[in-house]
Amino acid sequence: MATCEHAVAAGGKTAPQQFEENNLSEAKRVIAVLSGKGGVGKSFVTGSLAVELARRGNKVGILDADITGPSIPKMLGMSGRHASGIGNLLLPEVSTTGIKVMSSNLLLANETDPVLWRGPVIAGAIRQFWSDTSWGPLDYLLVDMPPGTGDVALTVFQSLPVDGIVVVTSPQDLVSMIVAKAVNMADKMNVPILGIIENMSYITCPDCGKKIEVFGPSKLNEVAEGYGVKVLGRLPIDPSLALACDAGAIEEALPADLLPDAIAACEAVEPHEGEVAGENA
Ligand SMILES: Nc1ncnc2c1ncn2[C@@H]1O[C@H](COP(=O)(O)OP(=O)(O)O)[C@@H](O)[C@H]1O
Ligand SMILES: [Mg+2]
Ligand SMILES: [Zn+2]
Repeated sequence: MATCEHAVAAGGKTAPQQFEENNLSEAKRVIAVLSGKGGVGKSFVTGSLAVELARRGNKVGILDADITGPSIPKMLGMSGRHASGIGNLLLPEVSTTGIKVMSSNLLLANETDPVLWRGPVIAGAIRQFWSDTSWGPLDYLLVDMPPGTGDVALTVFQSLPVDGIVVVTSPQDLVSMIVAKAVNMADKMNVPILGIIENMSYITCPDCGKKIEVFGPSKLNEVAEGYGVKVLGRLPIDPSLALACDAGAIEEALPADLLPDAIAACEAVEPHEGEVAGENA
């Protein structure tokens, strides 16, 4: 129960133990959203995928593993809320459309409190969000990863049974070694990359609707092909969506079917069998 093929593949006995799932949780698919650096829209993509998967009738959770820069609760209109507990388990907060969220943001007395947690404390928080949180049955648990491909991200991958990774990049990342780092990390953890999304790829002219590639022609296809990973979509810079995220209104504001290929890739992940009581009710 404590180990699975991922843990073994990630280094066998010498690898740190994965945290155990409690018996009130059953995540059928665990999908991590990763970026080479911060500020590229990782959380925005995580939130967008969650909203679309929920619209399709799935039970969706978001584990906000960006402990020091949590932004999922705000996007989903949960600012100022606090996670409650039942027995010794935490309960995720639930958004308007039923998306469950656990985040360091929901455990702080003040949303604006600086989070100065380091290494072991961050690992402890991830353990709380996985092992000590009553998620119930979930079709998808999306993990908003810490930015970058350093130790913190590594710890999260070693701790959670991630089934697949969605990589989010900016146009600038595509011309640097940042995508390589993400691909190497996925290889090292032996977790498949579902594909890559280019965020802030272009703008749409408000007058004629033409796509303007402000950073030059996209390198996405070329780079994805170079690493043998799928292209899951390109997103424009959309100031109205940024405003909606700030206002906690991503569920209302997100256009329909924004990332169809990314959703298809999530749906293609083989689900784990459910064991939670009442799941088929
Ligand atoms: N496609 C987009 N168009 C407009 N604004 C965006 C887009 N993607 C992200 N943003 C905004 O950019 C900022 C950084 O995005 P965020 O998802 O928080 O990045 P990350 O999680 O990678 O640090 C946020 O204010 C977000 O609303
Ligand atoms: Mg973020
Ligand atoms: Zn125009």
